[in-house]
Amino acid sequence: MDYFKVQKTVALNGTINVSGAKNASLPLLFSSLLAEGKHSFSNIPNLEDVHLSFKLLRYLGCEIEINTKPVFDQKAESLNSVTITVPKILKNIAPYELVRKMRASILCLGPLLTRCYQAKVSLPGGCAIGLRPVDYHIEGLRLLGADLRLLEGYIDAKSKGPLVGANMDLQFPSVGATENIIMAAVLAEGSTCINNASVEPEVLDLITYLKKMGADISVSTFIDEKKIKKNKITINGVEKLKAASHKVIPDRIEAGTFLIAGAMTGGDLYLHNVQACHLGGVLEKLKQLGCTVEVDNTKGKDSIYLHANKPVVAMDIKTEVYPGFPTDLQAQWMAMMTQAKGKSLVEESIFENRFMHIPELNRLGASIKVNKSTAIISGPCLLKGASVMATDLRAGSSLVLAGLVASGETQVHRIYHLDRGYEFLDHKLSSLGALIKRCS
Ligand code: EPU
Repeated sequence: MDYFKVQKTVALNGTINVSGAKNASLPLLFSSLLAEGKHSFSNIPNLEDVHLSFKLLRYLGCEIEINTKPVFDQKAESLNSVTITVPKILKNIAPYELVRKMRASILCLGPLLTRCYQAKVSLPGGCAIGLRPVDYHIEGLRLLGADLRLLEGYIDAKSKGPLVGANMDLQFPSVGATENIIMAAVLAEGSTCINNASVEPEVLDLITYLKKMGADISVSTFIDEKKIKKNKITINGVEKLKAASHKVIPDRIEAGTFLIAGAMTGGDLYLHNVQACHLGGVLEKLKQLGCTVEVDNTKGKDSIYLHANKPVVAMDIKTEVYPGFPTDLQAQWMAMMTQAKGKSLVEESIFENRFMHIPELNRLGASIKVNKSTAIISGPCLLKGASVMATDLRAGSSLVLAGLVASGETQVHRIYHLDRGYEFLDHKLSSLGALIKRCS
């Protein structure tokens, strides 16, 4: 198995192009199931999770043509374009072997059910960052009139004819449940209202594509009975959608990871192909840490410049739904806080078990304690290279970042987690001066 050898790096300097967003690409790829014909996507990152989605789509009957640049090209802005040809008749079973490796495979359920009136999709199961049930997905599809049963590890979903629009309130603005329910509702009869829906940029990117396909969707806000502002997504079902083309939004989590790496190494970075508004809260936090952060929009596209000329200061964060601090940057932020003077708190409010990186960071010499959903980091710590293990994607990237400031050599194992979500991570970091090498 491959692992990364990371050595202490002075400061990251240079320019990188941010890849297309993994978490936007996966729902977009599955949304193609909603319409027969040729769908074209560009800026799709070349990642393990994307290839797992292709495998499932091919199994369901789609033909996929990938135009990929298999080698790292620093100048390439949009690496991969993909054409998915969706047949008139789809296979409507997603078997365990194809679903178990990637939780996002559950996103084929809504499209298959609404198009075929029947779908059998394996339950994705739990994962390292928490239980991650799919009850909101199931409840939402039931409210659209489908009959869903759990049978031998599968969700067996049926409807007598087209799904029927309904009003529903999500208990929590789940990203995946919102996406699955929207995709089911676009071909339902009548209108569907999802109250307390997720409006993460990746959900909005999906909506943009669905609208290009002919869907009728609007996003608004409302104030609930406790006077809390919430988001509502209204979908007026249409009879048929048509295949279209789309460029995937930039990966805000990849961008955030590089910005944090720049901040903690005292670096000087330019990020191209980003959408600064998607990083709003994170950019503010980086400024408060003492970094210079500038957004340039002169060419109609955003670039972010980060200059870190003083040591980072201790700062608390709490993960929240968008536009709050993203849970997918929590582990990386924590790695940075090991270098800040004083105590900082990191509260995880989205997942119940997303602190698996803490024992590994402590193995490198960090001083992090946990009290329920809050981590208490005492810094600055002199980290010292050791062998550590990635337990999930973002935990893995926090260990790589810690390795950049640890003395000696850090070996990060189980980097298949990183390959699922960061395109050319080692190449991009090396191009900025990081001492990182993939070894077998
Ligand atoms: N939840 C339920 N029941 C459900 C659905 C969710 O209890 O039916 C709970 C989850 O257990 C979790 C919380 O609700 O505690 C939020 O889960 P959500 O459904 O919003 O997350 P997701 O759709 O499973 C996506 C991203 C994650 C990202 C989260 C939160 C994709 C493919 N995955 O997951 O990305 O952390 O939203 O923003 O879009 C990653 O990229 O490393 C990653 C884990």
